[in-house]
Amino acid sequence: MAKKGRVFSGARPTGRQHLGNYLGAIQNYVELQTDYDCVYCIVDVHALTTVETTQELRQNTFEMALDWLAAGIRPEDSILFVQSHVPEVMELHTYLSMVTPLGKLTDLPTFKEKVRQQPDNVNYGLLGYPVLMTADIVLYKTDIVPVGIDQAPHIEFARETVRSFNYRFNTKALIEPQVKHTEVKKVLGIDGKEKMSKSLNNHIELALTPEETVKRVREMVTDPARQRKSDPGNPDVCNVFTMHKIFSPQEEVDMINVECRKAGIGCVDCKLRFAANLNKHLEPFRAKRAAFEAKPSEVQNILDHGGKRARAIAQATMAEVREAMKLP
Ligand code: TRP
Repeated sequence: MAKKGRVFSGARPTGRQHLGNYLGAIQNYVELQTDYDCVYCIVDVHALTTVETTQELRQNTFEMALDWLAAGIRPEDSILFVQSHVPEVMELHTYLSMVTPLGKLTDLPTFKEKVRQQPDNVNYGLLGYPVLMTADIVLYKTDIVPVGIDQAPHIEFARETVRSFNYRFNTKALIEPQVKHTEVKKVLGIDGKEKMSKSLNNHIELALTPEETVKRVREMVTDPARQRKSDPGNPDVCNVFTMHKIFSPQEEVDMINVECRKAGIGCVDCKLRFAANLNKHLEPFRAKRAAFEAKPSEVQNILDHGGKRARAIAQATMAEVREAMKLP
């Protein structure tokens, strides 16, 4: 069946993925494969803008690839690859930087945020982050970019950069990408307050064992106003209930919604039920992950093969770009 167009998305190699990554991005990546020709990239070069050492880069890339594959990214259909395996992206980044006003980069909220986060490492790459991201997107003639809402300014930047480039060199070589916001709702961490993230250590990794999952779920913060089991709770402000709505059968959700409000079910019981449903949901994922983990060379082959396919597209685009720019 003919596909509706090309999707491209990237994520930094953060190692083992958690529920927030799964619900906010990976599930969407998997679904988009039905209708689109998908290219998914592990952006190791972008990671270099923030890491102090590259010690864990390979392991983190491998673990992330494992999780994506286990979750249902199909390497037979989609291209799954590592950003640095396609060096053309660095070249395009340089050309795009020539049509990028410096002030636009320094004004970006994402850049300002990074400056606050790492005042001692405000490197040039950090400033050029959105330019490299634009190069990622346009190198593969991308129609649609599924990303979280925090990336909206970067996609807008990419669109403007495409327009500037095409205008300046009087070409249609680059395609203006459309954004598709994937994160419908923020997935909160076990603290029940902040967005789930590895750096805050409030995350639940997909690859935990069922026992470890139970342990982690038991640490989840519920309705803070509910002190004792005999107190009635409010599911509307409880992150465990939010998770039940995603992973539990409707009757169970309805039951909890009623019983919690009249202290008919305690938080521990409620959490154990969620953990059980989550474990059940993740069973096929964990089986698939274990199978890939047992054959690391197969994962490496998938990434290498993806890199070759990606590079073929990239080289064709670069030929057009160089022609449009009249490079000698
Ligand atoms: N900036 C994105 C993030 O931090 C990662 C990324 C890099 C990306 N290149 C991309 C996302 C291209 C979409 C398309 O999440």
